[in-house]
Amino acid sequence: MPPVASQPVTAKHTQAAIFLVVTLKPGAENCATARAMCGGLAGLLRAVGVRAPEGRLSCVMAFGSDAWDRLFGQPRPKDLHPFREVRGHHHAVSTPGDLLFHIRATQMDLCFELARHIVAGLGDAVATTDEVHGFRYFDSRALIGFVDGTENPVDQDAVDATIVGAEDPAFAGGSYVMVQKYLHDLRGWNALPVEVQERIIGRTKSTNIELDDAAKPAYAHNALTTVVEDGEELDILRDNMPFGDAGKGEFGTYFIGYARSPQRMEQMLVNMFVGRPPGNYDRLLDYSRAVTGSLFFVPAATFLDNVEAGGPVPGAPG
Ligand code: HEM
Repeated sequence: MPPVASQPVTAKHTQAAIFLVVTLKPGAENCATARAMCGGLAGLLRAVGVRAPEGRLSCVMAFGSDAWDRLFGQPRPKDLHPFREVRGHHHAVSTPGDLLFHIRATQMDLCFELARHIVAGLGDAVATTDEVHGFRYFDSRALIGFVDGTENPVDQDAVDATIVGAEDPAFAGGSYVMVQKYLHDLRGWNALPVEVQERIIGRTKSTNIELDDAAKPAYAHNALTTVVEDGEELDILRDNMPFGDAGKGEFGTYFIGYARSPQRMEQMLVNMFVGRPPGNYDRLLDYSRAVTGSLFFVPAATFLDNVEAGGPVPGAPG
């Protein structure tokens, strides 16, 4: 099998990002338009990115379960399914999403320019369900004031955590991506003593040091999101971004997690929303409400390049 190039799932974190989620309207002609975007995305990226090469413009294009069936049919990535809502102490909602574009760059003008061309290319074939413009906030802090992203895997560990391998050979080089848009009750959060916030997150606020086991409660966010299988921690790669509207009093975190299988992210959600054990839930959720939730598959870049508008179902990449 020829080598398969992945999409830029493990791209280095940037100062700006746009998260664009669209739904695909019914009809073969709309599917053809979406398929044309698969093959055309690389060209758009080159056209916009070359205008500021130091801007590290990148874009990941991903597909929801229903969209996959409509656009490509069989074979399909073995673990792709619609986002599974979680109802526990809090509710992780499932919301519509056929295509996700995760656009990153060191400057927002590049992200915006690419988004504009993508939306123009898709035209009336899609409806935009959500578009969030995220910014890096001081030293990579979420708007709740804690540094976000510290324990992300890096280098080869990031690849091992995110890129599908021999477990699904037809889709090797791909990845799964989960997104959730959270709105924070910052007034309530900021009214908590800092020590209480630190126990909720599991790290110190100003210095970003992990609490030691004696001080860290079982409900700490970084305890509940630690998932172990056969003695090994199952990592995911996050690139969350703050967003907001000061005038409206809207303060948010756009959660985005990549992994080579969705199960580990789903387990994290159950631990957070239901609790581990049930009832021992993530107190961050008392101050953060999930208003969207979708799961997508990120095929290899090679796969995208091979898709042709109206052409035969591409089948396995390569
Ligand atoms: C309101 C939304 C969220 C916020 C503000 C948030 C923030 C944070 C912060 C501040 C940390 C500690 C520093 C770090 O290692 O990055 C962290 C860790 C982590 N979060 Fe979240 N997070 C959110 C949602 C989620 C969700 C939905 C998941 C998984 C489905 C998740 C998975 C993780 C993981 C795996 C870690 C690293 C744990 C470790 O190994 O120490 N987070 N998050």
